Amino acid sequence: MVVKVAINGYGTIGKRVADAVDAQDDMTIIGVTKTRPSFGCDLAVRKGYPLYCTYDEPDKIAAFAAAGYTCHGGLSDLLAIADIVIDCSPGKVGQDNKELYQAAGVKWIFQGGEKHAMTELSYTSSANHQENMNAEGTRVVSCNTTGLSRTLVPLYNHCGSLKVECTMIRRAADPGDSKKGPINAITPVLKVPSHHGPDVMTVRPEIEINSMAVAVPTTIMHCHSIVATLPDGHGLTTETVLELWSSQPRIIIMSGAETGITSTAEVMEFARDIGRKWGDLHEIFVWKDGVKLTGNTLYYFQAIHQESDVIPENIDAIRALMGIESDWKKSVEKTDSAISKYNGI
Ligand SMILES: NC(=O)c1ccc[n+]([C@@H]2O[C@H](COP(=O)([O-])OP(=O)(O)OC[C@H]3O[C@@H](n4cnc5c(N)ncnc54)[C@H](OP(=O)(O)O)[C@@H]3O)[C@@H](O)[C@H]2O)c1
Repeated sequence: MVVKVAINGYGTIGKRVADAVDAQDDMTIIGVTKTRPSFGCDLAVRKGYPLYCTYDEPDKIAAFAAAGYTCHGGLSDLLAIADIVIDCSPGKVGQDNKELYQAAGVKWIFQGGEKHAMTELSYTSSANHQENMNAEGTRVVSCNTTGLSRTLVPLYNHCGSLKVECTMIRRAADPGDSKKGPINAITPVLKVPSHHGPDVMTVRPEIEINSMAVAVPTTIMHCHSIVATLPDGHGLTTETVLELWSSQPRIIIMSGAETGITSTAEVMEFARDIGRKWGDLHEIFVWKDGVKLTGNTLYYFQAIHQESDVIPENIDAIRALMGIESDWKKSVEKTDSAISKYNGI
């Protein structure tokens, strides 16, 4: 079976998910939507993805032809031929879209800008792939929550309990975004705790976690400063924590002192050097020399490429919802192997 995938919202996340789907042999892109003719339409045309309008109104569909694009119809036309829709619209428009998907009888995946309360199920590959098997729909959690899940879930699985306090040092905007800030300030998120840590509990409720967040004037990555309290008798050392993470998919561990990669700037340069498409880094980057276990307290930093760590998770989530693969590690291996063919060395 080849799953027919629609992408509703062809922006930062949507265009990346589309290419990741396109690389797999068990799913195919049947169309992507744009709200109106704009430069993203040229990208879809170049890739050979059929273009649809986000809306069904005839005048909005006709605007595409007037601008020289072949538009195959409105969202309803696309949903009529899809098995599953990946909603990559900006956050908070999900409820209306969900009703359209349910009426069309297609499965749906939302992104982290939507609330867990709306989807009633969330997803990360390492935390709860099984729970998502054959579900009607889910939400791939945000880039920060995905990053936290990648390193905390294996720790939790080893220790059996985990208490975590962390600070998200967040990028102000994506590189292609000209409307957000700050450009010269550090802006604390004055909702304490921030949603990021507690959001981990939507995929692994047993992890006790709180977070605070600040936005800083950078566009390339988030950085997490994490303090985890392990239970008595955890049996780990700094070295074995690193070994545990090394054995997990989608985590890169490097020494800042040995490589000269001591900041998010060099991490992103590394991603470009190894030929990653868009300069993306799907993996979470952990600095080996920033990890220290003292007694029961584990300290570490990790860097998150906000535009791309969730991309392979969307592919695994499709396999879970469609009931194709119940073993998360097998899905991850298949996803990443297919993506690696377009993703450098
Ligand atoms: N960017 C990140 O770093 C990041 C990371 C993880 C998760 N997310 C989440 O991923 C989702 C998408 O974010 P993004 O950064 O990709 O946003 P984006 O770059 O602004 O792209 C959103 C796209 O959705 C389209 N759109 C607007 N209204 C829509 C509607 N009602 N229905 C369907 N599509 C609509 C826009 O259309 P037009 O361009 O055609 O006008 C745009 O192409 C959000 O939930 C966000 O929180 C983002």
